[in-house]
Amino acid sequence: MTSHFQPNRRHVLAGATGLIGLALTPEQAAAAAALAIAADWKIAFADLEGDLAPRPLQRVHGKAPAGLAGTLYRNGGAKFRRTKGQATHWFDGDGLIRAFRIQEGGASLAARFVDTPKRRADTAADGVISGGFGTRSGPGARIASPDDVNAANISVIRRGDKLWALWEAGSPFEIDPASLATTGMVTLRDDLAHMPFLAHPRFEADGRIWNLGQVGDKAVIWQLSPSGAVQAATPIALPRASYIHDFTITARHIIIVLQPWVYQGDSPVPMTSLTWQPGLGSQVLILDKADLASRRVVELPTFFAFHMTSAWEAPSGEICFEICASPQPDFVIRTAVDLMAGTYTASSDPKLSLITVPTQGTARIESTGVIAEFPRTDGRGSGPNRFTLHATTQAKARPLFQGVGVYDWRKHQDLVFDFGPDHLVEEMVFTPRPGAVEAFDGWIIGPTINLRAARTELHVFDARRVDAGPLVTWAADVAVPAGLHGMFWRG
Ligand SMILES: [Fe+2]
Repeated sequence: MTSHFQPNRRHVLAGATGLIGLALTPEQAAAAAALAIAADWKIAFADLEGDLAPRPLQRVHGKAPAGLAGTLYRNGGAKFRRTKGQATHWFDGDGLIRAFRIQEGGASLAARFVDTPKRRADTAADGVISGGFGTRSGPGARIASPDDVNAANISVIRRGDKLWALWEAGSPFEIDPASLATTGMVTLRDDLAHMPFLAHPRFEADGRIWNLGQVGDKAVIWQLSPSGAVQAATPIALPRASYIHDFTITARHIIIVLQPWVYQGDSPVPMTSLTWQPGLGSQVLILDKADLASRRVVELPTFFAFHMTSAWEAPSGEICFEICASPQPDFVIRTAVDLMAGTYTASSDPKLSLITVPTQGTARIESTGVIAEFPRTDGRGSGPNRFTLHATTQAKARPLFQGVGVYDWRKHQDLVFDFGPDHLVEEMVFTPRPGAVEAFDGWIIGPTINLRAARTELHVFDARRVDAGPLVTWAADVAVPAGLHGMFWRG
């Protein structure tokens, strides 16, 4: 950790206790420091009251690497509370598109809310009446389709010269990448209007998209052109109505993990329809891309996961992929609810794990033991991933992460940069150096929230030397609430 990130301990204690000039016992000092940290994290889940006009970021230290230019677009909820009500789950805030632009050695930030029917209805009601994944709808809500509760708040992808803001149970919203204005909701096909489109589509090397849209134990396999036109939408039946947030692909197959968190009943709040049934175990459904009716289901021990990496297939047909697996979905059921009530409840650690599915015999999941979420890989090539970028070092005194790591699968070694307890680390992304050939020859880019300084910071690392700390850090004049997923648009 570089000295720049060291908190000024006297400053923290003074601010926490008001005991300027008084000596503290070690116990009092530890309690005051814990109090300061415990109080500070709430700015990461606070409300942003309006769009952020473009503003320069101030360089804190270092120098932007030559050849790095582009925009890190990120999405995530940023408005949760109004006079007459609030979201009761972290996943139900209004989607905010952040644009961190890096060019000519400098950086800037702008952010704009996605203009959804939900945000319009909730703003008019001065409440949160449109509900969501874990929030109940209120009086006056007009809900004719899932898109009336679509917060467009999970991820953002590039489609042609536009951005799409994605939720997971409704339609994409098209965003202008320069102004961040919402230009409309995307109806992928008229007869499939409002059909879910997951927030984690998978990309072929030529830009074509595979995605799922799930409704209970049924799903649609979406196939889109690089510009976003629907090439096919094929209905399939799922072996069980599991919660599905992500899936993956190999060159030949689609891989869907079916965890034992299963929709049952018909609660008006989707999350409360889900029942954790660890006795069922987890399953992996493997579909043939060339014949979606051809399938195989394999059994695995029980785990919960949000995210996985790109998968690969050995010449033998053995399929492998990485997944951030927890023993149970306690973060989403409890922690993400308590956050909205202003309290932090620790939950089980997700661990970077490898799933191996042989062509015959028993599939297995092996944990590296490394705490990891938001996994990202190089994205070029179709073989085993040499490196996996991830958020890490889950702090016990407050939510989310305080470090960024790169796991080397050849050396079985995790290189980590720990920002310390004053920073809350968001998802970071990898972008290759122009002309790079070798795996992970490039940069890691992503924000943290500096809780002590109450500001969002943007960092760039050499991807092969993440443990050496950021090459450059810029600071904003505001703290933007913690986001979920993003992508880097070069140029
Ligand atoms: Fe996600």
